[in-house]
Amino acid sequence: MMSKNIDWQNLGFGYIQTDKRFVANYKNGEWDNGSLTDDANIVMNECACVLQYAQTCFEGLKAYTTKDGHIVTFRPDLNADRLISSCERLEMPVFPKDKFIDAVTQVVAANADYVPPYGSGATLYLRPYMFGINSVIGVKPADEYQFRLFATPVGPYFKGGVKPLTIKVSDFDRAAPHGTGNIKAGANYAMSLHAIVTAHHEGYDENMYLDPATRTKVEETGGANFLFITKDNKVVTPKSDSILPSITRRSLMVVAKDYLGLEVEEREVLLEEIKDFAECGLCGTAAVISPVGKIVDHGKEICLPSGMNDMGPVTKKLYETLTGIQMGEIEAPHGWIHRIK
Ligand code: PLP
Ligand code: COI
Repeated sequence: MMSKNIDWQNLGFGYIQTDKRFVANYKNGEWDNGSLTDDANIVMNECACVLQYAQTCFEGLKAYTTKDGHIVTFRPDLNADRLISSCERLEMPVFPKDKFIDAVTQVVAANADYVPPYGSGATLYLRPYMFGINSVIGVKPADEYQFRLFATPVGPYFKGGVKPLTIKVSDFDRAAPHGTGNIKAGANYAMSLHAIVTAHHEGYDENMYLDPATRTKVEETGGANFLFITKDNKVVTPKSDSILPSITRRSLMVVAKDYLGLEVEEREVLLEEIKDFAECGLCGTAAVISPVGKIVDHGKEICLPSGMNDMGPVTKKLYETLTGIQMGEIEAPHGWIHRIK
């Protein structure tokens, strides 16, 4: 297949409609086989559960062209597992793991000419999602569901690529102590919209959310987990039951330990201690690792020693090793790479 005529180098993080997407329907207690379709639109009843009560969850992963010309995805089994956790928490039927991996494989293969070339800096972002589709007016779960998975080629999530970000310590909470912060519910993102629009208006790139119970501990941003590097090169990431278990973060902790020989710690991180860290980054599928240069806590500026021009040296090593694994330049741990072509 011919690569599409897209300016890969200058892609932002936006939606570009691709040729095929996967659709499966759940009715009478079971999933159908699902299939690829050309139709990017969805028709549903005005009273569909997703429209009234936001019964929806989603995932995000990417397909990459490797150095030797294969097309691969990164740890899709973990996205399948996390979608299952989201479904269980939202009283939705689970979408089976084997069907999930098969849908990823089919969509990527059918849109192979949208997978950006090796070295372009762009990737094919995959968005699996599920929602309650039948009409529901009393508050209860739907009986019928749709699973869909589409693909869209993307560049960097943050404008400016790897330029260090300025983060605002938010006055809003993203999650409640026993809420849905640890799953990928659409509702988590709906309630973050006012906070991110406010932060952008004030000139910040992203929000740092604190733990909602005490507002003393670092949680995450609206779409990525935090990583901190101590002055003696330890990799520290916040531990909390109300943050999303990022697949990128979990992978980076393995990369830090096994590939770079660094000490790693998953523990509570106090807002008060961030002034002592040497580097900070945001990690996620969309964010990859985006360096943070400054964190502003109600007018008090906390400037990371790595500065506002470049990624810190440890963050850079983590970034290069992770993307090297994803692009087939560095041997991956067993089972991390799912080859499609
Ligand atoms: N945290 C939130 C709130 C997210 O939306 C995401 C993105 O999926 C992440 C963290 C990063 O998770 P992952 O690395 O699995 O993409
Ligand atoms: C992802 O990284 O895949 C996400 O879902 C985060 C979102 C903010 C784009």
